[in-house]
Amino acid sequence: MTKQFWIIVLNGPNLNLLGTREKEIYGVKTLEEINAALKQFADENNIEIDFFQSNSEGDIIDFIQKNRDADGLLINPGAYTHTSFAIRDAISGVSIPAVEVHLSNIHAREEFRSVSRIAPVCIGQISGFGHHSYTIGLIALIDYLTDRDKKD
Ligand code: DQA
Repeated sequence: MTKQFWIIVLNGPNLNLLGTREKEIYGVKTLEEINAALKQFADENNIEIDFFQSNSEGDIIDFIQKNRDADGLLINPGAYTHTSFAIRDAISGVSIPAVEVHLSNIHAREEFRSVSRIAPVCIGQISGFGHHSYTIGLIALIDYLTDRDKKD
C-alpha cells in the first residue's frame, strides 16, 4: 500500500543528549526511544517517516532544503528556536507544513525561551508535554494534512 504521507522529524542541538541531559526538565527517554515510538505510530497509520538530528544550523537548513518534497515537518529546533531566522526562512522558503514541538513548556521557563523565531512559520506549537509533545505534534500534523487533502 502506498504511504499516505511522508513526514520528516528534525531535532536540533543537544537533543542527542536526551536521557542524560537535565532529566528533571527533559525526562529520561533517549531520542532513539522517542523516535522509535514515532516510527511505531507512523507504521500503524501508514505514514512514511524519516529522522534527522544535528547540532549545526547549516546542516538543519540543508536537510530541510533536500527534503522539501516531504508532506510535513515535525521539528524541535532546540535552542535555535529562540535565535534562528535562517531555519525559519528555510521552512517558509520550502513551504512545508510544520509543527514545532518542545519537551518543556518554553513559556514557563527563562524569558528568552518564550520567544520562538520558528513558530510564526508553523501551523502550531506543542510545548510542555515531555516526550508526548512529539506524538501529539505528529497527530496534529497528520490531522492537518488529512483535512487539507479533503478540501482539495
Ligand atoms: C527545548 C527547549 C529549548 O529552549 C531548549 O534550548 C532545548 C529543548 C525543549 O524541547 O523543551 O534544547 O526545545
